[in-house]
Amino acid sequence: MPLSAWQEADGPGGQLWHTDGARSALRAALQREGFRSADALAGAGLGEALLPAYLCDTLIGPFRQHGLSVRFYDVNPDLTVDMEDLDRRMTSHTRAVLFIHYFGFLQPEPVRQFFADLREKGVGAAHPLIFEDLTHAVWTDLPEGPVGDYAVASYRKFGQPFDGGFLWARGGADGAGGGGRPEPELNTWASPAHCLSALAWALEASETDSPSGGGRRPDGPSTARTLWDGAERHYDRDRVARSMAPGSKRMWEGLDREALVACRRAAYRQALETAAACPHGEALRPHLPPGVCPLVLPMRAGTPAERGPMRAWLARKGLNTVLLWPPAPGVERDDFPGAAETAACLASVVLPLPPGDNRAL
Ligand SMILES: Cc1ncc(COP(=O)(O)O)c(C=O)c1O
Repeated sequence: MPLSAWQEADGPGGQLWHTDGARSALRAALQREGFRSADALAGAGLGEALLPAYLCDTLIGPFRQHGLSVRFYDVNPDLTVDMEDLDRRMTSHTRAVLFIHYFGFLQPEPVRQFFADLREKGVGAAHPLIFEDLTHAVWTDLPEGPVGDYAVASYRKFGQPFDGGFLWARGGADGAGGGGRPEPELNTWASPAHCLSALAWALEASETDSPSGGGRRPDGPSTARTLWDGAERHYDRDRVARSMAPGSKRMWEGLDREALVACRRAAYRQALETAAACPHGEALRPHLPPGVCPLVLPMRAGTPAERGPMRAWLARKGLNTVLLWPPAPGVERDDFPGAAETAACLASVVLPLPPGDNRAL
């Protein structure tokens, strides 16, 4: 499967490990940096993490589990990072900052430069670690690689099996730039989910020349599909940092990335053409830049009250929508106007693709 050079295990500028998803990757990175869950349990104040106020709230857990209190910064209504707001909220206690490339679209160059500078020099008394969330942009071209100290991603939103993702860390294996930090601790214990995934993959491999049609989980009824579902039911992604299940890893190795990206881009254009006529809202990204692999088509309603009619109009045209995401706990309109408006007005069109390609949204 073709990868960017930076995504090789010992690529230029960094190292990469396969995990079972983004949360595991965050846990492994925080452990590697010395934030220990035991300290959190003992009530040691290890500082704070600043996360975007518009986020999937499962991202909060790994920071809290490692003893960091979580605060938020605002994003603009176009989902770019509100750099002024972030700047204002950083203090000497800020040990980690996370930012997200939403829905497959990269944060613009000035934002990436802002984070590159913050990583290198800090600002005022703050010199946080930068965590870059590539979960939605895992198949989008990033020729120069991440700008953070760490990048995390998850594959399952793009038709992959129930688990899989990566942790990327800046710096070489020899410690150059990596500060001689230890290997991340990734649990490889053969859980029931791991065993079921290996069986699912082996079964498909014995039955077809190309297991799972180019590295994706089967959609239709099949024994392999039942085994993948069983693996997912047995899976607990909320506790330890784990490596990717063996069956998922084999599936990922067979993935036809170019075909996946081409299908998603075609589906995005198709959905966009229909949605462009919607009287209640508009596409947040009416242009699909080269190299972008979109997760969904984000649509913004003119007002919160118009979101319902917008979704109903889209549904009549055959486009289903999901709400990603409600406001995170404690995120109030007065304090986070951009994120609050986004949470109230945005609806994400599920790309017209086979159902398995849009699972885990
Ligand atoms: C932007 C983003 N990052 C990370 C995650 C968590 O991924 P995982 O559950 O695979 O760890 C999600 C959500 O589901 C997400 O939407």
